[in-house]
Formats: sequence, C-alpha cells, structure tokens
Amino acid sequence: MASSSSHSLILLVSYCSFFFFFFAAAATKEAHHYHHHTLQLTSILPSSVCNPSTTGNKRRGSVLEVVHKHGPCSMLSMNPLKVEEDLFTHDQSRVDSIRVRAKLAQNMTAKTDVVLLAGSKATLPVKPGSSIGSGNYIVTIGLGTPAKQLSLVFDTGSDLTWTQCEPCARSCYTQQQPVFAPSASTTYSNISCAATQCSDLTSATGNTPACSSSTCVYGIQYGDQSFSAGFFATEKLTLTSKDVVNGFYFGCGENQQGLFGMTAGLLGLGRDKLSIVSQTANKYGRVFSYCLPSRSSSSGYLTFGRGALARNIKYTPLVSTSRGGGSFYGLTLTGITVGGRRLVISPTVFQTSGMIIDSGTVITRLPPTAYSALSKAFRAQMSKYPLTKGVSILDTCYDLSKFTTISIPKISMVWGGNTNVELAPQGILFAAGGASQVCLAFAANGDDSDIGIFGNVQQTTMAVVYDVAGRKVGFGPQGCA
Ligand SMILES: *[C@@H]1O[C@H](CO)[C@@H](O)[C@H](O)[C@H]1NC(C)=O
Ligand SMILES: *[C@@H]1O[C@H](CO)[C@@H](O)[C@H](O)[C@H]1NC(C)=O
Repeated sequence: MASSSSHSLILLVSYCSFFFFFFAAAATKEAHHYHHHTLQLTSILPSSVCNPSTTGNKRRGSVLEVVHKHGPCSMLSMNPLKVEEDLFTHDQSRVDSIRVRAKLAQNMTAKTDVVLLAGSKATLPVKPGSSIGSGNYIVTIGLGTPAKQLSLVFDTGSDLTWTQCEPCARSCYTQQQPVFAPSASTTYSNISCAATQCSDLTSATGNTPACSSSTCVYGIQYGDQSFSAGFFATEKLTLTSKDVVNGFYFGCGENQQGLFGMTAGLLGLGRDKLSIVSQTANKYGRVFSYCLPSRSSSSGYLTFGRGALARNIKYTPLVSTSRGGGSFYGLTLTGITVGGRRLVISPTVFQTSGMIIDSGTVITRLPPTAYSALSKAFRAQMSKYPLTKGVSILDTCYDLSKFTTISIPKISMVWGGNTNVELAPQGILFAAGGASQVCLAFAANGDDSDIGIFGNVQQTTMAVVYDVAGRKVGFGPQGCA
C-alpha cells in the first residue's frame, strides 16, 4: 500500500491534471483490491451452526468427511472456553515434540524410557517425543466385522493408526463412541512378533516393539506424555461403503493416556511404511487429498486416490529431509509475500530451518528472522486497525470489535519450484478472543535452526493434495468452506 499511494502522489505532483488524478486513484484502488482481502469479520469467527458442505461428496473416489474436533459439526462436545485455553499449550507441545524428532533424526541416538504395557509383563523402551495427538481435525471410519464407527484424529505427522480396545487392560480415556471390542469382530487378527510388519513398528513409532505370548506389542508416545500401547493387529477397515481395506495393520490399544479429546484414537497419514497411505499404496497409488474446514464453517473432506483430485492445483516438490525423520512431509519454502510485496528474507534462513507440512500443528511456525519480517510488513499494512495485547505465541493482534467488514493484506507462501500459494483470509487471521482479539496466525520458532511447520490454520479451506508417488504436494483454492 505504501508504494501505491506514493506512486499516485508523484503522479499528482508531476502532472497535476484531473485525468491523471482520476487514473492514479483508480489504479490505486485496483492495486488495493488485488493485494487485499475484503471480508466480513464473521467469516473468521468460530460458528456454532453445523452446515455440512457437499463439496467433498461430489468428488469421485473415496471420500471421508473431515470436521473440526470442537467445531459445530463435531459430536465430540467440549467446553469452547476450555478449548481456546488449551489450544496454544497443546499446539506448543506438538511443535516441541516435532522439534525433538527432527533433531533425533539428525543424530539417531535417543535416550530410552520405559512404559509399562497392557496387563502383560512386557515392557517397552520409549524414545522421547513422537508427534502429539492433539491435532484437531477428525474423520470417522468403520473398523471390524460388523463395522463399528470410530472417530479418529487425522494426523499427517505420524504413521501408526490406533484405537482404544476392549478390555482396556490398563487404561482407556473417555471416548464418545463405544470402545472397539476385537472379540466382537470376525475379522480381527493379532500379529505375531516374527512378522516383518512387527519390526516396521520401530520406524513408525520410534520404539522397538515388545512381545507378549508371541503377539506383537506396540507403544507410541507423543510429545506431551500422551501415549498408546497395546497389541498390533489387522482388521477390516471400511473408509466408505465402496472402499474397504482388508487386513489393515493398526494398534489395538489397551493402555492410553492423554490429549485425544473424546476421539477413539488416531489415523496415521504419515510417509512411513505403516501409515494408511503406505498400506493402501496398491489401491490408491500413495495419493490422498484433504480440505480442512474453517472454524466458521462445517465440514471438509479426506479422499484417497488420484480420481478424486480437485482442479487448479499448484504443485511443489516433496522433499525428503533428514530433518523430521521418515514420517514427515518436507517442503521447500523460499519466500513470503505480504500485500503483493515479497519480504526481504535471505534464502539461507529457510534453507537452514527446513519446513514440513503438518495437519496437526495449528499455527504455522517460522524462523524468527522470517516471522519478524512478516509481522512488521503486516502491521504496516494494518495500521488503520487498533493493535491489542497478544495471546500466548501470537503477538500481532487487533481489536476488531467495532468493525463488520475488514480489509487485510493478502499473504502468499512462495514454495520450491516458484509455486506461489495465496492463503485464504481464514489462514491469515485467528480470532483468539473473539472479535476483540484477532491475531496474525503465525508464530516465531525459538531460533532460526528450529524446523519450520506449515500448520493447519494456514491450510484451512484449501484443497491440499499429497502425491507421494509423484513426490509433490499441491495446493488449490476453495477446496471447502
Ligand atoms: C549425538 O548425540 C550424542 C549423545 O547425545 C552426542 O554425544 C553427539 O555429540 C551427538 N552428535 C551430533 C552430531 O549432534
Ligand atoms: C491377541 O493376543 C492377546 C495376547 O496374547 C490375547 O490375549 C488375545 O486373546 C489375542 N486375540 C486373538 C483374537 O487372538
């Protein structure tokens, strides 16, 4: 904005004619429109009305509905005030655990703890910090024969899918749906300790599996001391009535603790061997896509397979980074634009940190050098709105309670391959304390060497495509509301 207004000023001074005044003003207005979002404030505030979108259902292929765990379409009720309080604490735990894993992956030596397991004498060494289960989007799948409906946390940052299982020999947290009972299913099988899939648990969970009466025993610990442990098993997985995966490997958890809300467990969409993406490689070709709905909306989707892809997708290469281990999806960030202008950030800043895309981290984390350039440019273009106090990791907040319509600078992420992806308004601002505390939804890492994370607020409403076989990740506008 600063540049367009000074251009019009120069034109006025130089030519001082009515026509030039007219054209300069029109050009300024157009440039403003091009580089800004004008939106209703309510479109970025959380809504309490469930209005399921049909976008996903119109697509071909295997479609699952994705809802926000505490959104209006979730049946997992929770006190909304508590949700906001917990959100930043949980988010930081997840980020810390990703950071620990990223560092471990570089060094490969980890300290081991011991977690006691499910009613057996088996003990399991546990390395600190896999990702956390606080990710806030959920999908509902069917498990077993007859199929039982289970709502699982949707997590691209980990691989193993698990659910709580009867008889919950040690401990199950409270979940909304009945706990899965293997004895009531005709398709459940335990995995033997000798199976190669049992050994695959080592990289999928970061822990060497244990063995109890020749049944393979898994354990996975997340960054905030949440964990799940139990028997490694196979079951019939029903994604949709047409999409059934027989012999799906999953954890049947008999000992859980932690922040999984009222969900029944976790769906692991990571990059490693045991993730649902890898297990269904023959069926869906390691391609999946999703759209995460905004907090003011209702439902998005998760699809598997190439047939279901949205159009107008811009791709960037998927990079295998030594950072983040085998589960994470690494991307290359090369720059950020605010209001049409590229921030001046040395490329080495992003090269040093690296970047992953994660469905479970809420707020995008940037190297401090990049964040300070972003927040400075954003503040400069938001000067007409009153700044207010920050909240937790968010330090650029505005009191917008006196406004109904607002105009904010557009923000684009410039990914590797010169792929410029514009964020939706819901990916720029986060209403942390209602309309009176609306914040720039980005935060700084502790230091420039910490790994960057592209979080779920920024992915909101975009169609996000993971073509793991083609080694690329793509983004498209308006995937869902
Ligand atoms: C890896 O970790 C070990 C033990 O914690 C430490 O002694 C060593 O210096 C680390 N190596 C690197 C390259 O960071
Ligand atoms: C699975 O293994 C556990 C531990 O050995 C055992 O208690 C359970 O009955 C087994 N379930 C089936 C269906 O084989």
